[in-house]
Amino acid sequence: MTTNLLAQPLTLPCGAVLPNRIAKGAMTEGVADENLHATDRHATLYGRWSDGGAGLLITGNVLIDRRILERPGNVSIDPAPAEGEPEGMEQLRAWAKAGTRNGNHLWMQISHAGRQSPRYVTTEPVGPSAVQLDLMGNYAKPRALTEAEIKDYIQRFANVARIAKAAGFTGVQVHSAHGYLLSSFLSPVTNQRTDAWGGPLKNRARFLLETIRAVRAAVGPEFPVALKLNSDDFRQGGFSHEECLQVVKWLNAESLDLLEISGGTYEQPRLLGHSGDAATARDAAPAVRESTRQREAYFMAYAEAIRQVCNIPLMVTGGFRTRAAMIDALESGNTNVIGIARPLCTDPDTAKDLISGRIQETVTHEKHLRLADRGLFSPASPVMPLKVINVIGGQAWYYQQIFHLADGQSANLKLGVLGAFFKYFQNEISTALRLKRAEKRRAKAA
Ligand SMILES: Cc1cc2nc3c(=O)[nH]c(=O)nc-3n(C[C@H](O)[C@H](O)[C@H](O)COP(=O)(O)O)c2cc1C
Repeated sequence: MTTNLLAQPLTLPCGAVLPNRIAKGAMTEGVADENLHATDRHATLYGRWSDGGAGLLITGNVLIDRRILERPGNVSIDPAPAEGEPEGMEQLRAWAKAGTRNGNHLWMQISHAGRQSPRYVTTEPVGPSAVQLDLMGNYAKPRALTEAEIKDYIQRFANVARIAKAAGFTGVQVHSAHGYLLSSFLSPVTNQRTDAWGGPLKNRARFLLETIRAVRAAVGPEFPVALKLNSDDFRQGGFSHEECLQVVKWLNAESLDLLEISGGTYEQPRLLGHSGDAATARDAAPAVRESTRQREAYFMAYAEAIRQVCNIPLMVTGGFRTRAAMIDALESGNTNVIGIARPLCTDPDTAKDLISGRIQETVTHEKHLRLADRGLFSPASPVMPLKVINVIGGQAWYYQQIFHLADGQSANLKLGVLGAFFKYFQNEISTALRLKRAEKRRAKAA
């Protein structure tokens, strides 16, 4: 009898056990209330995903600084006290309870958006250095953080992790991928500091390594602590695959339970399988033996190289769509967990059905979502706005599907990509305005 690798439990270094090998990758939900607290919609959404059979659910990013969100509608735990309970704790408890109702794990992804916080959220983003993200003027120039601010943020990551544990989340994941704050410290393009937090790789990785240590100290040895890391920024002069391998060697000495591999940033959105700005792109796939089937996943070749230097269990996310490729990837030993994100927005039972073998492939909409494939926009177009609409339109479509699931409905497959694009901006701007009004009321009351 052959073993069903997808169904195998995984014991993590801390002793916790994932009931199977499929994880739902983090997806920003955008359904927080005007205080940036979780809502009933989080509970409905994660209850539905818990019923869908993945052994691990990772939340969308939960922000440690309420002023600098990845998008309006993010949950933020700020202030996050070192002891006791923050505001919004009941809602966090309800979210955690619903999201673990089938005995699966639910980990909170903890994040800071850094320079990738849009203007309609803040005109004062922060980063390692004052290096602006150039994407159609939608991102303001960041201010370089002071050392005191970096240390404060490390403590905030730890405090939020402690609160997540107290609320009933069964683990945490630190977000250091995709160009957000911790990830931007790793890149020589965005980190041009000359102090102890910039320059040589060891200094650029200091913020990340100290954050992991602080988080572990806050939650104790028996609680899962994970990290999402770029295999490569795919950006000329940016955090490279070779640098990633070195950071992984340092991470071996920290007590991490799962290392999730992704890649790219807003400039190079490889995490979603898209290419970005051609002028600054860098491509250097590592020379490894990658099987054809594994190639549907964007980062398996990178994971193969990482596996060789890494003693932490690995999760690889991005592009996995067929059961055969998932099983091959597990069989190769180059990943221990398969991360899946977009397919779960339209079919929340994907994990259960893949594990049972009821489906051999996820239901996939990426292809028809690309305007390029309908001949409207060329992926090779030198016109950046068209590329951006292509990427954001596709992404917006999934945001809308998440709203439907959070309202207890099924996905709306009739939604068009341009319709989703406009709905997205309408929603983001009105939510941002609502947040600003609430902030003013709070300031007045204080
Ligand atoms: C709607 C949406 C929201 C996302 N939000 C996050 C997030 O909050 N944090 C994160 O690390 N990745 C986020 N991602 C990236 C996914 O976790 C994942 O890496 C990516 O979608 C590739 O996996 P897939 O091909 O299975 O969709 C998001 C992706 C989508 C589509």
